[in-house]
Amino acid sequence: MHYPDWTTVLDIGDPVIDEQHKHLFAIANDLMTAIGRDQGKAILKDVFERLKAYTRYHFKEEETYMERIGYPDRDAHAAEHVLLMMRVKTLWRLIENGEIITPQGVSLFVNDWIVEHIMHKDALVGEYAKARR
Ligand SMILES: [Fe+2]
Repeated sequence: MHYPDWTTVLDIGDPVIDEQHKHLFAIANDLMTAIGRDQGKAILKDVFERLKAYTRYHFKEEETYMERIGYPDRDAHAAEHVLLMMRVKTLWRLIENGEIITPQGVSLFVNDWIVEHIMHKDALVGEYAKARR
């Protein structure tokens, strides 16, 4: 089973944000591991809650960062975070309803929302920050 790994492609160039993204991946991997080992609902729910809480924390941090550097598309970016948060909650519903039962299922979902967002949206924030330096 190949879990989504951190790659330098996902590096946006800010050490704090990059570390948080890595941590997000680590928790997502924990969730896939828990599903792969067929651990009980309570454990799954626990790991999922960690993923949800950390995602929420990270988005807030990123929004503060965008504000600090004067990123012009901050509002649109923050709006996408709201949608992503909704998808995180959907992920739990799918797991709970038995629609996502394999690590691969979570992996697809995670790739879709974390990787896509980091590569296409967070990367722009990194480029903007770099250009300002
Ligand atoms: Fe973001």
